[in-house]
Amino acid sequence: MPRIAIYPGSFDPVTNGHIDIAKRGRKLFDHIIVAILLNPGKQSLFSVSERIEMLKESMADIDNVTFDTFDGLLVDYAQQCKANAILRGMRAVSDFEYEFQLALMNRKLKRKVETIFLMTGLRWIFTSSSIIKEAAKFGGDVTDMVPPGVNRRLKIKFGK
Ligand code: PNS
Repeated sequence: MPRIAIYPGSFDPVTNGHIDIAKRGRKLFDHIIVAILLNPGKQSLFSVSERIEMLKESMADIDNVTFDTFDGLLVDYAQQCKANAILRGMRAVSDFEYEFQLALMNRKLKRKVETIFLMTGLRWIFTSSSIIKEAAKFGGDVTDMVPPGVNRRLKIKFGK
């Protein structure tokens, strides 16, 4: 049985931290499905197709990674994909409470699906999609934190 993990998120946009988690996750899993939640209630900067495009571009050199979208419960989607795990990155203490809640709820809903956390690489400890968007919006340089294609699109989006 191949070991399949879902790496879910908003990826609005993908950051170097996400890429690091996907690369390291591939050492643990045979196949990773990077899945964007379709969430009409949450306003995003990039459309779903833009986000998929950026993910594909920036993870092109990682083999056995595919890209998808999902709605509804993550554990249902995981089961549908025959995935046995959910992969999440964990940064500083601030991520812990939310991630803990999410993992426990997912475990309650489907016991078979385990959540695996990888601690973020030290370089990416302060990297988050939200803070990157905030900096880029006001002309801040985020070159070191995102793939080149994302940097370019952020500049276009914010007219910089
Ligand atoms: O990148 P994000 O926004 O932190 O990702 C959050 C995500 C998509 C992993 C989470 O919101 C999610 O899985 N949503 C789907 C609905 C669900 O199953 N929620 C958890 C149990 S209530």
